[in-house]
Amino acid sequence: MAGGFDRLRCRRGVSWSNSVFQRLPGRAACVTISAVDVRAYNRAAWDRAVQDGSEWTIPVGPEVTAAARRGEWQILLTPTRPAPRRWFPADLRGVDVLCLASGGGQQGPILAAAGANVTVFDNSPRQLAQDRCVAERDALSLVTVEGDMADLSVLADASFDLIVHPVSNLFVPDVRPVWRECYRVLRRGGSLISGFVNPVAYIFDLFKADEEGVLEVRHAIPYSDLESLSEAERRRLLDQGHPLEFGHSLEDQIGGQLDAGFVLVGFYEDRWPDHPLDRYIATFIVTRALKPR
Ligand SMILES: C[S@@+](CC[C@H](N)C(=O)[O-])C[C@H]1O[C@@H](n2cnc3c(N)ncnc32)[C@H](O)[C@@H]1O
Repeated sequence: MAGGFDRLRCRRGVSWSNSVFQRLPGRAACVTISAVDVRAYNRAAWDRAVQDGSEWTIPVGPEVTAAARRGEWQILLTPTRPAPRRWFPADLRGVDVLCLASGGGQQGPILAAAGANVTVFDNSPRQLAQDRCVAERDALSLVTVEGDMADLSVLADASFDLIVHPVSNLFVPDVRPVWRECYRVLRRGGSLISGFVNPVAYIFDLFKADEEGVLEVRHAIPYSDLESLSEAERRRLLDQGHPLEFGHSLEDQIGGQLDAGFVLVGFYEDRWPDHPLDRYIATFIVTRALKPR
């Protein structure tokens, strides 16, 4: 099973970036561990992922946006299960949608082609460039904004009807500000559809699993690449250029949405198709939350 958890680390860091960083030793050698600026580090990591063709940075093709224009569309927030169509307005024309931490030319262009007024917000300039590239190619109108999902202050209060937030809050150390900001920028009656990682994915000793194929429970949740590992392990991660990850508790993921004022009205789970842990438990969660009227 060696390699199984190597792929989990890839999944954790690079699935979202397609193993590229493991091929780039020394990329982050100049980063001082004690003073890591997570946002700047992850911006560079995701920019490199685009450059190296990560799966999560590959834009949809013109046939996908053409179908969306005809009303035939679906979007993924997790690896394999599309979000239920009934979670979206029947007619997206004129609906103001924020695609949060969603760069890469996937969700944003599909929803724009379906008629929504789309803003794609992301920390990676290259990810946002992928959205602009699709928009130009397929004559779509969308707005791109670079920023931190935990600080949406450039966006006005009550300016969106729908937020689509694919799995990405594993890349911020504190998820609660994200929920509060989502609540602020949504209109009353608006909805937030979010994918996130079940924290069980972070409890194992990933290095031991990679090297020995042993699933050994080691880490407490909340997990942090910066705080849960030894100095040597942290340096390995940084030297490999993996995006930094954080395993948030369910209290912060689900309780955080409720504490922000949302009402949860939808829930499903998803899996990696071929990951050993996913044989035992689904490691992705998607929720639908409403801002009450
Ligand atoms: C796994 S990708 C998700 C987007 C992709 N379109 C998808 O289909 O899954 C994670 C995204 O989160 C973004 N990201 C990471 N940290 C962020 C932050 N602090 N604020 C905003 N976006 C961030 C990355 O740049 C990347 O585009």
